[in-house]
Amino acid sequence: MNKILIAGNWKMNKTVPESLELIHALKEKLRSPCAAEVVLIPPFTSLHSAAEDLRGSDIQLGAQNLSHLGSGAVTGEVSGTMLISAGCKYVLVGHSERRTLFHESDALIHQKLKTALSEGLHPIFCVGESGEERDAGKTKDIINNQLTVGLNGLTLMEMRKITIAYEPVWAIGTGKNAKPEQAQEIHEVIRSRLASLYDPELAQGTRIIYGGSVNPENSSSLLSQSDVDGALVGGASLDADSFYAIINAIK
Ligand code: PGA
Repeated sequence: MNKILIAGNWKMNKTVPESLELIHALKEKLRSPCAAEVVLIPPFTSLHSAAEDLRGSDIQLGAQNLSHLGSGAVTGEVSGTMLISAGCKYVLVGHSERRTLFHESDALIHQKLKTALSEGLHPIFCVGESGEERDAGKTKDIINNQLTVGLNGLTLMEMRKITIAYEPVWAIGTGKNAKPEQAQEIHEVIRSRLASLYDPELAQGTRIIYGGSVNPENSSSLLSQSDVDGALVGGASLDADSFYAIINAIK
């Protein structure tokens, strides 16, 4: 059984003082050891102060994006090495908002995964179908293709650092979460794809987390599915009480 991972993706929310306020509130609540690995994913501007504030706690830090290029003349981008030096362990790659708003292709996402791994980060690789793709019966093909292109050529050692996040696009920020059995069905598809691309042991040991309108009310039914190893939480991670309730849903 994989250790449950609960990650809070703050997206483009929270100034530095607001980030620290939320972190303080969460640290207060998470005083005693908890069963989940908790990861906070604030905006770039808050990472360094967040890392300073989280020193000595079990809470991990992640970034929302990274450049597919190394250091140098790449105005406006942030490299994996910079993220490591700011205190990050994790980085989101392939989030649907990056795919849609910034036209990130599967090929670019593959490059970002390679770069993140070579720079020492643990990628959280997001995959998911749109509402139209689901309605057209294409969900499994879309997911399998995103996995095949994204993970192309990664070694077993690299794969052990990857978490997959299944995030159906129609469920993100809509309040319309996937039903637990829908999530379970696609998590099984992902696991069996990993087994065929690598081997069953790797597939079993890879964390596959669900994201899309996770909240304190639906989290325990989603997390009780056998192939759901955690949650990637957006809106509900912006409030200490609701994020803490989701972390506690696995007890
Ligand atoms: P949501 O976002 O929980 O607000 O739906 C999830 C995500 O985008 O990671």
